[in-house]
Amino acid sequence: MDNTVDPISSCRVSSRVRNISTSATKEMAIIAAQIGGCVSLGQGVPSFTTPHHIVDAVTKVLVEDPSSGQYSLQTGMVTLRNRIAEYLREEKKIVADPESEICVTVGGMEALLATVLTVVDEGDEVILPTPTYASYIEQVLLAGGIPKYVPLTDNWGLDLEAIEHAIGPKTKAIMICNPGNPTGTVFSDAETISLCKLGVAHNFVIITDEAYDYIVYEGEMPFSPLSMEEFRNNVISIYSLSKKYALTGWRVGWVTAAKGWMQQIMKVHDATAICAPTPSQFAALAALNGEQNCVAEMREKLIERKELCCARLDKLHKYFSYVTPKGAFYVMAKYLFSDDDSQEIAIRLLNEAKVITIPGGAFGAGGEGHLRISFGGELETINEAFDRIEQWLDKI
Ligand SMILES: Cc1ncc(COP(=O)(O)O)c(C=O)c1O
Repeated sequence: MDNTVDPISSCRVSSRVRNISTSATKEMAIIAAQIGGCVSLGQGVPSFTTPHHIVDAVTKVLVEDPSSGQYSLQTGMVTLRNRIAEYLREEKKIVADPESEICVTVGGMEALLATVLTVVDEGDEVILPTPTYASYIEQVLLAGGIPKYVPLTDNWGLDLEAIEHAIGPKTKAIMICNPGNPTGTVFSDAETISLCKLGVAHNFVIITDEAYDYIVYEGEMPFSPLSMEEFRNNVISIYSLSKKYALTGWRVGWVTAAKGWMQQIMKVHDATAICAPTPSQFAALAALNGEQNCVAEMREKLIERKELCCARLDKLHKYFSYVTPKGAFYVMAKYLFSDDDSQEIAIRLLNEAKVITIPGGAFGAGGEGHLRISFGGELETINEAFDRIEQWLDKI
């Protein structure tokens, strides 16, 4: 006899957790594994492997320094925080005290969650320009907050008027991803500055997720508002080393904020993780200190992949329209061949063409009617996926 009790129906799972869902990226991968033989345009990871000089540096330190397998200080290794402070100053014009304004985290993801839990109270509203990074939605719900969706403009820009309109007494924060996942958009400096001015005027926090900051296809890295003194108390910025240095599995990133915020964020970080994995902090140090050709090479490859992806989409202009990505490695392809919702289309594409894409609806209402396509995979993978999509479109 099966005596197992369903923890949901017996109310043993907290309502907080019942309220949230598994990410669509993971769900699609699980279904694809059951189908077998699928090619992926769904993954949020470029195909690159961790550069040798980083692996070598970590291997050496693990052998030579027994403390490298132990906890570091909660905020991270002093050498790493000093290096991050230098990086922020040189690359982003942000002045951050390594002692009190930088905390190394278990990837950008832990930095985001620790920040959301620090800022958002039960019933607080958090503005999410959509399509948004899906995990923001779950994090806000986990904190007891209410996501307030404000669609981006047709070109995936910030609709500042609509954002201003959405601000109310319960508005606590806005979360932006720049460059954007899933849209590939890069907000202009003027857009970011206007948004931060709204934050100061209405006393809410701007959480800027800069996980893809180095992947821009035109011009400079996007502007970081923490670099402006007038925004220091309203902006909390999240960074990741995952994609830039092909370190996704190492789980290392950081959060930068004014000391007052950081003292509070630190409490959550300590209660959650104690510290980021120490070997991964050594990897981060080697990445930031080492030669940067690997970053330039990966970026060059991503440019090629973006061009191929856009060319293949252009060939299918009767079926898809899209805004050319300016950053990150995603494109939101609007499908013109069906009125069905994006979950249905993505599942059909998976079952009938064996191609993984992510349903745009998973990124908030503004993403419905789209499929998120990642061009992080090899050129062959992109070609194979589009060949299959073309054959499928011929048949439907
Ligand atoms: C927008 C965005 N923010 C944060 C993260 C998390 O990155 P990390 O691997 O540093 O936790 C991701 C990962 O895909 C992402 O796409």
